[in-house]
Amino acid sequence: KSKTKTIYTCQNCGAQRPKWEGKCSDCGAWNSYVEELQLPEVKTRGWSTTPTEKATASSKPISLDQSIEAIKLDRFDTGYEELNRVLGGGLARGSFVLLGGSPGIGKSTLLLQMAGGLANNKQKVLYISGEESVSQTGSRAHRLGIRSPLIEIGCESNLHTIMDLARHKQPDVLVVDSIQTMYLPDLPAAPGSVSQVRESAGHLMGLAKQENITVILIGHVTKDGNIAGPKVLEHMVDCVLSFDGDASYNFRLLRALKNRFGAAHELGVFQMNNKGLEEVSNPSELFLEERGNQLVGSAVFASMEGTRPLLCEVQALTLSSPMAMPRRTSLGIDVNRLHLLAAVLDRHLDVRLSTNDIFINVVGGLKLVEPAADLAVAAAIISTTRNRDLDAKTCFFGEIGLTGEVRGVSFVENRIREADKLGFLHFVIPYSNKKHLEDVKLSKDKQISFVKNVNDLSKLI
Ligand code: TYD
Ligand code: MG
Repeated sequence: KSKTKTIYTCQNCGAQRPKWEGKCSDCGAWNSYVEELQLPEVKTRGWSTTPTEKATASSKPISLDQSIEAIKLDRFDTGYEELNRVLGGGLARGSFVLLGGSPGIGKSTLLLQMAGGLANNKQKVLYISGEESVSQTGSRAHRLGIRSPLIEIGCESNLHTIMDLARHKQPDVLVVDSIQTMYLPDLPAAPGSVSQVRESAGHLMGLAKQENITVILIGHVTKDGNIAGPKVLEHMVDCVLSFDGDASYNFRLLRALKNRFGAAHELGVFQMNNKGLEEVSNPSELFLEERGNQLVGSAVFASMEGTRPLLCEVQALTLSSPMAMPRRTSLGIDVNRLHLLAAVLDRHLDVRLSTNDIFINVVGGLKLVEPAADLAVAAAIISTTRNRDLDAKTCFFGEIGLTGEVRGVSFVENRIREADKLGFLHFVIPYSNKKHLEDVKLSKDKQISFVKNVNDLSKLI
């Protein structure tokens, strides 16, 4: 008779303890321990005592001097340029991908449409949903105009059944709609718990690597933005995509947080409308679309999202504060960065910010992480405090240091070319980036201002 003990597992990091803990001593999460049954340890040895050449097709080592064909990654065209780019040039065969996002953001829609695109390119897709019935998923697919004999949809949450089905059907791509609904019947824990998620994902990873089936998992995101379930899930997969967007805007941002087959931090932009998700191939236009003529406190920043430049509008508002500790509120840039910039501007320029509330908003719900946004934020702040218009056809990028110096950034050419393409006439950029512009040819009506410090910037406003 096998003896089962109970063990406490942290639902955040997967740490296990014999006793309950209020705060996980590994990851610091509060109230995250859940009692689970511990499975008896397996005590058999899987390898043989005499070395053999036994290996499965996928584990057989190959030497690096073989032809490129033998080692080249096989990639599928998903039918969506934005998705292909975020994946690093298409969906790699046999890869294991996690798509995270909050409920209702459009994960199922995105993957159904992707299934449609893959089927158009002759790939076989098996879409298993543990959340919606076959008729729900099917009618949504029909509404989106997806009909193909190459796509099969099913409703199942028993992982054994899914594994058997996938092995039997041998699709090119298997979509598992929400790892949180899947369960292994021999595991005495509820679906969605750490042990179920981890074990189910482990089996699906085996399926991907042994059968060379691309497996895409949908994962729900908790309130604080983490993919529900253990961190180990993110370590297991080849690629973590996050799908988010502001509830009040209809565009959706797809980002690669981790990618073993391409650059991370690549951004894809979609718009949700009544025909499903539509690609936005020129997001800069979209983000600047509603920029009016009220240009006090509005600066355009040429950012880089992965390998693609993206122009966006940064707005600032300052008001004299009734409080001893003036407010610093920021949507879209790190508030600590704002504190730092406000201090630098206050110290080096004639703008009095220490008694003013400052509000910053990046239009369209974008989140800027690049320090290169500093110059645009500073320009917007200076403009609003002096109540002076910023020129509508000027764009900014550059990092600001504590001594008020403007520091060079990377991808200068890409940023300028994008702004140039959208009709911007004046580029305010770091002086130290001058040397990177030797072979950029601009027409006569375009002008570049190189700034060395915040004083140079101030003179332009
Ligand atoms: P869904 O893909 O079900 O989200 P998730 O799987 O991430 O939970 O998307 C549901 C939302 O998308 C729903 O609020 C309605 C909206 N939607 C549209 O606006 N247009 C459409 O064509 C479709 C299919 C969905
Ligand atoms: Mg869904």
